[in-house]
Amino acid sequence: MLVKNTWKLAVLAGVSAVGFSASLAFASADDSIKARQECMKAHGASMGVMVPMIKGEKPYDNAAIQASFAAEEAACADWAKWWGADTQKGETIETFAKPEIWTDAAGFEAAGGVWYKAYQTIKATTDEASFKAAFPALGESCKGCHEKFRRPKG
Ligand code: HEC
Repeated sequence: MLVKNTWKLAVLAGVSAVGFSASLAFASADDSIKARQECMKAHGASMGVMVPMIKGEKPYDNAAIQASFAAEEAACADWAKWWGADTQKGETIETFAKPEIWTDAAGFEAAGGVWYKAYQTIKATTDEASFKAAFPALGESCKGCHEKFRRPKG
């Protein structure tokens, strides 16, 4: 009896382990897509902080800029994990990533590098003039990657 139950448990455990790994694999594309879109939303939020300062609609505020960068870095920390070939299509979430990300992986990485450099430059600024001078390169780096590697929404 005890042996039989143990056997039954082992089978059940085996079944649920298969179910578990299957659901993990199933969820991974969606999870990666969701995470990278959240990262991109943090990029967008940071733009929302900076653009009014660039336009002179709001006073320059480096603390607010740096806070938006910190939020961006937190949201994007796992970036490298989100671009597996299995994430070209979501299970339930729509991705706007273009196939070129996978057919031109070096180009995608280079576009990321252009952004990173522009980001490091603007992050290091502590006065309004340097901030304003560094901003166009940052905006261009977003655009450069989106033009090649992102489908427009809608
Ligand atoms: C290396 C390439 C790359 C760079 C650099 C980049 N993006 Fe993106 N961005 C993407 C891709 C790819 C997507 C689509 C992701 C998806 O749908 O899976 C995206 C999506 C977005 C979205 C839509 C997110 C959503 O709600 O689904 C916003 C907003 C965005 N990016 C803003 C920015 C801003 C602002 C910058 C610059 C500060 C930037 N991105 C830099 C590749 C990039």
